[in-house]
Amino acid sequence: MNLLVTGGAGFIGSNFILHVLKKYPKYTIVNFDKLTYAGNTKNLSGTDKNLNYFFIQGDIADAKLVKKIIQKYSLTHIVNFAAETHVDRSITDPDAFIQTNVVGTHSLLKCALEARVKRFLHISTDEVYGALGKTGSFTEKIPLSPRSPYAASKAAGDHLVFSYFHTYKLPALITRSSNNYGPRQYPEKLIPLFIKNLLANKKVPLYATGGNIRDWLYVLDNCEALDLVLHTGRLGEVYNIGGECEKTNKEVAMMILAELGKSASFIQYVADRPGHDFRYSLNTKKIQSELGWKPKMPFKRGIHETVEWYKQLS
Ligand SMILES: NC(=O)c1ccc[n+]([C@@H]2O[C@H](COP(=O)([O-])OP(=O)(O)OC[C@H]3O[C@@H](n4cnc5c(N)ncnc54)[C@H](O)[C@@H]3O)[C@@H](O)[C@H]2O)c1
Repeated sequence: MNLLVTGGAGFIGSNFILHVLKKYPKYTIVNFDKLTYAGNTKNLSGTDKNLNYFFIQGDIADAKLVKKIIQKYSLTHIVNFAAETHVDRSITDPDAFIQTNVVGTHSLLKCALEARVKRFLHISTDEVYGALGKTGSFTEKIPLSPRSPYAASKAAGDHLVFSYFHTYKLPALITRSSNNYGPRQYPEKLIPLFIKNLLANKKVPLYATGGNIRDWLYVLDNCEALDLVLHTGRLGEVYNIGGECEKTNKEVAMMILAELGKSASFIQYVADRPGHDFRYSLNTKKIQSELGWKPKMPFKRGIHETVEWYKQLS
């Protein structure tokens, strides 16, 4: 397989590339990344020795460059991680989200179609489904109801992907995962930000009372799921990928504090995010029954591994 991974210098993309390089040493991988603030080639240090791995800096909206790269490396498969990903930033600067997550995704789809790639795996999020109350969970069949500019831009990308599947028969499929955590994440989202602050003896900002609920998925469990979907998922389908690990933000904060031996006095309650979705939860029966995947990492151990990774950086 000759694989184009977009956004491969970011959090999930870099973990995915490391997973693929280890498991499939014969694959060619081109990591195509714009290197925004969230991308970091150090996430992949050591891979430059691998003769099958290539890094190219570029924007997925740059069709000319994307076409050239696909041709040069005879790329047959695309996994599109490239995106603007932080909800808070989408509230203050939505334009960048529309540009990459909608316009960029569309440009990439056109290139994929022209190059007749064998598979286009688009990486999406549970946030496209909207918010839940205290009960229930989203199946893949729920109509999309995004509520933040980030979620809306991802939903638009998802609709474009399936429009290319239905209209032009592009062999595409989509995954929607819950909140990932683990090594190699830029420290602005809850878990890495809290770890970074606490390692520097600083307080951690918790929205409102910390009662919002998210499902947490260890990034390497996600990479195994993505590997399965890329190789064996049914075209034209969506696969939810969840960690079966729902926690309030306060519970997550308390676990990180405990891991680092700090008290609750390090929590600083701050004004809530505008339109803050209360809860996300995914029904993952489809990927479990069709592809035999299940999350493996217990949350406490995953937090320990993540803290250890950030410790060696500081
Ligand atoms: N992190 C999560 O918890 C989570 C959960 C569900 C879905 N997702 C989705 O997974 C994907 C990856 O998320 P992440 O957390 O690794 O993101 P990230 O913010 O860590 O990394 C995004 C990467 O994309 C690159 N990029 C941004 N714009 C680009 C462009 N125009 N062209 C090429 N590269 C560009 C950045 O430089 C960066 O390396 C995203 O599509 C995101 O929506 C993330």
